Amino acid sequence: MYSDKVIDHFTNPRNVGEIADANGIGEVGNAKCGDIMRIYLDIEDNVIKDVKFKTFGCGAAVATSSILTEMVMGKTVEEALKISNDAVAEALDGLPPLKMHCSNLAADALQAAIKDYQSKNNHVV
Ligand code: FES
Repeated sequence: MYSDKVIDHFTNPRNVGEIADANGIGEVGNAKCGDIMRIYLDIEDNVIKDVKFKTFGCGAAVATSSILTEMVMGKTVEEALKISNDAVAEALDGLPPLKMHCSNLAADALQAAIKDYQSKNNHVV
């Protein structure tokens, strides 16, 4: 049912935790299941230097968040904003259709964290 990449990122999730002095934090809830995701960003000179996540989500949410952190590390804010939930699911070699909504949690929390960063730094959102 799950790809090897999903199982790898679920059993060995990357970048779990918090960033104490994060300058962008995004928290979202999944309307379909009620699970929650929080993403912490450390952005310097418009580049994502560090990213961590915490989730009260399912295995697919853990795997999508884990691979998302790898995808955005070192990216500019603009590049990170272009990462869609479909791109996250594709990077994991797909998710079962019933689990596609779980990838929204990671992508939406990332967008929320970037918006938080931009609002704190007086960017036009
Ligand atoms: Fe809630 Fe997957 S079932 S995030």
